[in-house]
Formats: sequence, structure tokens, C-alpha cells
Amino acid sequence: MRRKIVAGNWKMNGSRGLVENLVGYVRSELPSLDNGVEAVIIPPALYIGDVTSLAGAQIAVGVQNVARWDSGAYTGEVSAAMARDCGCRYALVGHSERRQLFAETDAVVAEKVTQLLSQGVVAIVCVGETLAEREAGQAEEVVATQVRKGLGNVSGSEWQKIVVAYEPVWAIGTGKTATSSDAQAMHQSIRSVLSDMGAPAEAISLLYGGSVKADNAAALFAEPDIDGGLIGGASLVATDFMSICQAMPAGPER
Ligand code: 13P
Repeated sequence: MRRKIVAGNWKMNGSRGLVENLVGYVRSELPSLDNGVEAVIIPPALYIGDVTSLAGAQIAVGVQNVARWDSGAYTGEVSAAMARDCGCRYALVGHSERRQLFAETDAVVAEKVTQLLSQGVVAIVCVGETLAEREAGQAEEVVATQVRKGLGNVSGSEWQKIVVAYEPVWAIGTGKTATSSDAQAMHQSIRSVLSDMGAPAEAISLLYGGSVKADNAAALFAEPDIDGGLIGGASLVATDFMSICQAMPAGPER
């Protein structure tokens, strides 16, 4: 059985004003949903305290990145222990923007996953192919390699703290979404890679990300291997984020 998750990755956007308006709105509207969705807000790290103090028990909070080290002289970095200390249940790892702009390799992703597991913070490990890789017919292979290498050190009960987010790079912030059947095919492929790795694949939530909006979320979430979404732009608009949460089919778990 898998958790159904809608996570809003604010990226480097937002303000204290947005935290107040959006978190307040989601908190007031969420109890009216009966579909068992877990809403996660992932703001810039400076706002995590503001979000946690407004979020209440129903909304989970995440951090967009953590260091690959425990602690020490790493100016500007935030550790997995700090994420846990400040109330984060989730952390993103290996977002394509971090891979492209901050040289985050699969080896670095694996180190960050290890840090998070040592603190009991759930790692949402992001994978996805570029347009060139998709056009070359390499999408499944590229994503499988990211999964195998990024999660290569995970074992046993640690899998309970892993979520995988499939975000095709060409769909992020472009308004181009993978069709729900293409997204489903990739999710099925990821699940079979996880199973080959010895993971309890049927128990691991797989999220889709890349131009998820209020009007395409329901079709994506209806697919059997898509357990939720990782939302960028639309997560900055309270009513859109709530509509996406609402688009999750009913039932406590999948
Ligand atoms: P958009 O929803 O803006 O395409 O962003 C997706 C994303 O990168 C979430 O992590």
C-alpha cells in the first residue's frame, strides 16, 4: 500500500506573505478532502520555520536540498539533521535543476540519500530524462540508471523512507506535460527497476512532476502507478494547489 502525495516545490519563489496566505488556505481547505492525500509544502529553506508554525499536523513540510555531509565547515549548506530538527518530514534530492546547475551527480544523490536516511527524513529522489535523451530513445535507460545509482545504498526497512519523483526535464516549467500514458509507462518501468534492486516496489510512492496543473492532474493521478505529484509553478497559487490535491482519486491508500 502506498501513500498518495501532492508536494509543492516552491523552488526559489515565495515570501512570508505567500506562506501566510497559501499555508493558511491549504490548512483550512484540506480537512474537506476525503481522498487521503498527503499535502507537502517544500518552500525555500529560510521559510521552513514559518511554514511549520502555520501548517498544523495535516500538512507535511519538506526541504529542497540537504548537504552530503553531516555537519561542519560547509558555509551555506543545510544538513539532514537540521531538516529533521526543524520539522521536515521530506527532502528533495537530485532535482533536475540541482543536477544541471549545481553539478549534482548520481553519486552525490546517493550520499544525500544516506544522510537523510540516517535522520529518518523521507528522501524524494528526482529522476528524469532530457528531451534529447527521449528523442534518442534512451529515456527508460537514463531514468533506470539514475534510480539504480541514486538509490544504490538503500536496503531493508530504509525503503520505507524513499519516494521517487519522475520529472522529465523537458516538461518542467514548459507547459508540456508527458501524456498520462507515457508517464504511466515510465512509472511502471521505475517500479520494475526498484523491484530488481530488491526494494518493496509495490509499497514505494512514485510521483510525477512537470507542468502538473489543476486541469491535467486528475488524468495523471488516475494511472495505476502514479501515486501523486511534485508540483512547481501551480503550487504557488493556493487554489491551484488545492485543486491538484482534490484531483487525487478517493480511497485511503493505493
Ligand atoms: P513545474 O510544475 O513548474 O513544471 O515544475 C515541476 C518541478 O520541477 C517540481 O519539482
